[in-house]
Amino acid sequence: MFKKSAILLLLYFSPFCLLGQNAKDQLMPIPQQITWGSQRFNIDQSFHVVLSDAPDSRAHKAVVRFLRRLNDRTHLMTRIDPVLKSGDVKGVSLDISYQRVGNLLPGEDESYELNVTGDRVTLSATTDIGVLYGLETFLQLVSSDNQGYFIPGVSIKDRPRFPWRGLLIDVCRHWSPIEVIKRNIDGMCMVKMNVLHLHLTEDQGFRIESKKLPKLHQMGSNGNFYTQDQMRGIILYASERGIRVVPEFDMPGHASSWMPGYPELASGPGPHQIERKFGVFDPTIDPTKKSTYKLLDCFLGEMAHLFPDPYMHIGGDENNGKQWDKNPRIQEFMRKHGIKDNHALQNHFNKKVMAILKKHGKKTIGWDEILQPGLPSDAVIQSWRGKEGLKDAATKGHQVILSNGFYIDLSQPTFQHYANDPLPASLGLTPDQQRMVLGGEATMWAELVTPETIDSRIWPRTAAIAERLWSDASVNDVLDMYQRLESISIRLEEVGLTHIRNRDMMLRRLAPGRDIEPLGKLVEVVEPLKEYKRHAQGIPYSTDMPFSRLPDIAVPDAPVARKFRLLCEQLVMKRDLSVKPEIKAMLQSWIENHEKLKVASSGIPALANWIKMSEELYKISSLGLECLDFMDRRQVITDEWTKQGATSIQNARRPFDEAELMVVDAINMLFNHALPK
Ligand code: ACM
Repeated sequence: MFKKSAILLLLYFSPFCLLGQNAKDQLMPIPQQITWGSQRFNIDQSFHVVLSDAPDSRAHKAVVRFLRRLNDRTHLMTRIDPVLKSGDVKGVSLDISYQRVGNLLPGEDESYELNVTGDRVTLSATTDIGVLYGLETFLQLVSSDNQGYFIPGVSIKDRPRFPWRGLLIDVCRHWSPIEVIKRNIDGMCMVKMNVLHLHLTEDQGFRIESKKLPKLHQMGSNGNFYTQDQMRGIILYASERGIRVVPEFDMPGHASSWMPGYPELASGPGPHQIERKFGVFDPTIDPTKKSTYKLLDCFLGEMAHLFPDPYMHIGGDENNGKQWDKNPRIQEFMRKHGIKDNHALQNHFNKKVMAILKKHGKKTIGWDEILQPGLPSDAVIQSWRGKEGLKDAATKGHQVILSNGFYIDLSQPTFQHYANDPLPASLGLTPDQQRMVLGGEATMWAELVTPETIDSRIWPRTAAIAERLWSDASVNDVLDMYQRLESISIRLEEVGLTHIRNRDMMLRRLAPGRDIEPLGKLVEVVEPLKEYKRHAQGIPYSTDMPFSRLPDIAVPDAPVARKFRLLCEQLVMKRDLSVKPEIKAMLQSWIENHEKLKVASSGIPALANWIKMSEELYKISSLGLECLDFMDRRQVITDEWTKQGATSIQNARRPFDEAELMVVDAINMLFNHALPK
């Protein structure tokens, strides 16, 4: 008893490190330099921001958003607009200054310094983009206790490790309306990401209005496309948050949606239609016709005006070449020009498209397939197939962006993405070659997502990718990352993201008027199948399918399942008996959940498989409890029990509805531990 209060006293009298520690758990990405101070800055009703800037400036608008978020969290009702330096308010709470408006270009100065003392906070930056990031860091530091709201004394000097910190959103396989894009832009800004890569054309849809070639979007999109005005709105919204918009027009493959409107582009005979299924399809742009380049010149020229970013992405991935092989005219062209294979023909195409882009003032980016002999060295390579592609590009003098390892559509756990350093020592790049690596992009391919589920595939895992791209390489403690991820995940909903809240909405839709808690409890320990396994379950996925089933409601890297696995590891590997009651309670709760879930699901056909999965969870949870019992009592274990246990575990490993139970390995660990050695 005495000891406990002595510790509490000690903590009470050294509040500074404690304050800093709590606030640190809310930071993501971790700043480059942090020095915790010894005071705290109290935030109360009188809090105000001082900034000399016009109301329509990027920094001013960011401060207004910042104060709204602060007030919504604290109910402090502080003054919502910044005060001009020459204004009438005495004293300063948050003093913001910067030297110039930042350019939205890779390599722009995005640094900021945030200094917090007992009586004021100063945020200074070279550019207003640094100010945006400093405001986000401030909001991450806001803490509270019985005395009120505050941020701990701290001095932060921060800047990104990589200049290119991107998120790709595929708006083609499944359409993402403007509000989806905007809320994700807000999420990106919160974690200091600066490139939104919009994958705008695909086999399944042509998603941007062309005024010059209107049949592209009219006949290639089922009506789901952004008008140019809407796109300008997205670009403005992004730029106000320090984010560039890089458009991708995928060619010559992944190009079915170009053909219904302009069949003369096609290498094959048709009929031409947009695809509803997923995979690699044959329709490929004809690289041998002059008319192809005339049309591309017209379209890309129009897009070059619409999108201000200096970079434009031409895709270039997964051209299967089948239509080129079958087309006698294309074969004759290759013979005549000494083009030895389809790679060389695509290279011929790429060089011509690059020249068009150059004429329109744009630099070319392409997936790593475009890296062929003779490709001009100013083409930027986006590496998706492996780290060798990254190395190959960098050693050949190309700037390169890493996406391999950042495929968030594959439902892999966060720690795998977190460990994916764009500059692993194993690649052996020289310092000059390392400088060619601009950064990375998380890729949200949209085969299996809709506006309801896309946020929960992007967030919170992308926050950890953002940290990998912003923070120092030495910031790599996985447990610490997961702790901070939990905190940022909740904050991400503040800007309208739906990655947590949509679960219950989807459950209510399935079971209206029922108790959805038991359904949620099952979902907490379920994840969608990973990598490409969902596609391998024999489901005829197409854009017409519902994406509101168990694997869609379940989220990747389910936090409760992860916690259970960690507790079991602690018990079995570290022999830490203190975690046993918590493990027991979790197992017990899953056992009790089964009956409740049956009641909640009865008479609802869409939930039939949920009952089966819950039954498997019930069985292995019962097994888990028995294992704990055996460990306690060192009871004799029968062969029959061992056999039945092994069967339960095997059964529980089977996927239901392309989703899997994520506590099976941990219970298997308890089982093996209980067995006689
Ligand atoms: C890709 O994933 N095909 C770039």
